[in-house]
Amino acid sequence: MRIAIAADHAAVDHKAALSAHLRGLGHEVVDFGTDSTASCDYPDLGIPACQAVARGECARGILICGTGIGMSIAANKVPGIRCGLAHSVDTARLAANHNNAQVLALGARIVDAATAIAMIDAFLSTPFEARHQRRLDKIAAYEKSPTC
Ligand code: RB5
Repeated sequence: MRIAIAADHAAVDHKAALSAHLRGLGHEVVDFGTDSTASCDYPDLGIPACQAVARGECARGILICGTGIGMSIAANKVPGIRCGLAHSVDTARLAANHNNAQVLALGARIVDAATAIAMIDAFLSTPFEARHQRRLDKIAAYEKSPTC
């Protein structure tokens, strides 16, 4: 699978660990940075990664910042993207299973690298359950014609 990954300065080590893990599993990792611990702005990294997913260039996206919150907010502004903010293996699994999220956001200051690896494994291996499609259709309809 081709997977986009992006992190801000708070999550450089997590990005390296997750990227190595994904490559070890045979995935192609497209790295949108950052590789520096110098302060930067998560939208500058997360939005291009999500655009690559929205364009179909990457099948999934993994975004990491301090909490995952900023990355998830930015990601969900990219048309067509469903980004789930996860704090556990269970919430990562459910982001795929219930929400058909193509992008997972997580916090390097919230979960350690080993937990983050288990989370992305769950996210990438869990299928979507079609009984949730109606809710996603309502989100997509709102995105197409926002009422405010
Ligand atoms: C950066 O200090 C921090 O705000 C960022 O990594 C993230 O947690 C934002 O949601």
